[in-house]
Amino acid sequence: MRNDIIVKAVPCLQDNYAWLLHESISGQTAVIDPGQAEPVLAALHSQGWTLSHIINTHHHGDHVGGNLMLLANTNAQLYASAYDLQHQRIPGGDSGRAHPLQDGQQLFLGQKFLTTIAVPGHTLGHIALYHAPQDTELGLLFSGDTLFSLGCGRLFEGTASQLWQSLGRLRALPGNTLMYAGHEYTLKNGSFVRYLGLNSPELEEYLTKCQQKQSKNHPTLPNSMAIECLLNPFLRADCPKVAAAVVYHRDVEPDLANQQLTPQDIFGWLRRLRDSF
Ligand SMILES: [Fe+2]
Repeated sequence: MRNDIIVKAVPCLQDNYAWLLHESISGQTAVIDPGQAEPVLAALHSQGWTLSHIINTHHHGDHVGGNLMLLANTNAQLYASAYDLQHQRIPGGDSGRAHPLQDGQQLFLGQKFLTTIAVPGHTLGHIALYHAPQDTELGLLFSGDTLFSLGCGRLFEGTASQLWQSLGRLRALPGNTLMYAGHEYTLKNGSFVRYLGLNSPELEEYLTKCQQKQSKNHPTLPNSMAIECLLNPFLRADCPKVAAAVVYHRDVEPDLANQQLTPQDIFGWLRRLRDSF
């Protein structure tokens, strides 16, 4: 069991999660992606924690909607990507308490730190936050809307090639990293994986566990990156089985069928199939 950082899910809006991170030595507490302030303030109150950091993975309203009220009700500092702050699309970015994060930059939470990973694709300014494993404890990844369990974010601003490259950076993290995403989409994404025909005993075992958690109103997250790398087709667009499933479900023009398709091509088609699923 880890005890250096306690992570707590705060459900927001319809299916968002804000994540509270509490560093027990210093007592500092961060919230990642507060879509709303009220449930975050209530969770802080019930835990007896004081908010020190507000962190946004990207500028979408369901990830930043609580910023202003949290800034008004706490002394927390605000952190977001340099790109999103430069584009003035983070509420509170002009508060005098905002700090830009660049790729590779470390963000300290007490004695621990998160590393910024730039992951453009869903949006151009999207970042993920990674806490590397220490001693026997597991790594933590906060992936926002870039990586979901069994899925990935839609392409709103970036290209398929960009998002595929970004997911490649996340895929390279240690397999025992715990992945915390911005939405509860696991079961719906699982249906899509079944639709693709990428069924396996491992997928069914995982989905059964997730269904049990959901039936108790518990988050299906976090999941380990090892299981994601095994089951999430969006991390496996360079796998022949996934490529074959995509080609089968796509109305391939005869002259395209014989072309050499790159993983980026397969990934782009996979994303479009999911958009219309
Ligand atoms: Fe988003």
